[in-house]
Amino acid sequence: VLKRSFSASAVRNTIKNVTVIGGGLMGSGIAQVAAQTGHNVTLVEMNADLLKKAEDSIIINVGRVAKKLYKDDPDGAKKFIENTRSRIQGSTSPTEAVKDSDLVIEAIVEKLGSKHALFKSIDNAAPSKTIFASNTSSLSIGQIASVTSRKDKFTGLHFFNPVPVMKLLEVVRTPDTSDETYQSAMAWGKAIGKTCITCKDTPGFVVNRLLVPYIAESVRMLERGDASARDIDIAMKLGAGYPMGPIELSDYVGHDTTLSILEGWHEKFPDNPLFNPSSALRKLVDEGKLGIKSGEGFYKYNK
Ligand code: 3HC
Repeated sequence: VLKRSFSASAVRNTIKNVTVIGGGLMGSGIAQVAAQTGHNVTLVEMNADLLKKAEDSIIINVGRVAKKLYKDDPDGAKKFIENTRSRIQGSTSPTEAVKDSDLVIEAIVEKLGSKHALFKSIDNAAPSKTIFASNTSSLSIGQIASVTSRKDKFTGLHFFNPVPVMKLLEVVRTPDTSDETYQSAMAWGKAIGKTCITCKDTPGFVVNRLLVPYIAESVRMLERGDASARDIDIAMKLGAGYPMGPIELSDYVGHDTTLSILEGWHEKFPDNPLFNPSSALRKLVDEGKLGIKSGEGFYKYNK
């Protein structure tokens, strides 16, 4: 293990051109950190409106990072923002966007069929050297990669929300991921300022495998009436040192996301009680109470 981590960190980052497909919360965050660290980024969305939305959110969040990095240096902050913006270009064509790419990161909807269609379409369009990665939270990397002709150049790169702030990157190896691909992914993760961990292609990798059942149990605790939402959150913040309690974290992640992860795992592994779907989450989602993004979840928010 020691030997492996040493050799991975010793590899220099050779990735320059990065294509991010999907400009939602995660994709725009990934595009932002890649551009902030000097990479040329092409961000792909389905249409001009969605591209504009992604670009607007990147501008706001680069501003927050610049404010922190260049506290007493407004000129430095301005330059940082301009440089970052100039390194990101938008595209609505995945096949065009991968033509000169060293690394493609997919961050589209969590549906295996949609991911398969995308990777099939770009497999021929991208050069053979191009590494493909998925930012999936809950699907199998090996299963996503199975439709491509480059399973050795396929890895999971799993980021955390908010991407510009969270320091972790999970680098997921399938049995087919080559050493070279894995080492390039680790070196790139380090180059964008993240701390990388390595894990196998198992449901939820490390963080979500632990976090999602924890959130689900906190919701069950609320349903049982063991404690109020606010008290459960205070308990885990002050008693376990978490930055957010599980109920507010569930509102932050979005109940549609948590529920779809749980339901997907339950369908695949019906005997594992940790993956039992929650009726309270299902009710919130059916009522459109998705959490912070919709203005209401377990708590209410000012839009
Ligand atoms: N972009 C850039 N900067 C941001 C940001 C963003 N999107 N969001 C927050 N920040 C910055 C703020 O500007 C602020 O900077 P400052 O320290 O210079 O003032 C700093 O982060 C802290 O933000 P706030 O003061 O607003 O609030 P907090 O101190 O409460 O921190 C938090 C916010 C970083 C979100 C913190 O509460 C936290 O770490 N929460 C837990 C998040 C978590 O667990 N994420 C993982 C979710 S699971 C996941 O993503 C996996 C997926 O697959 C489901």
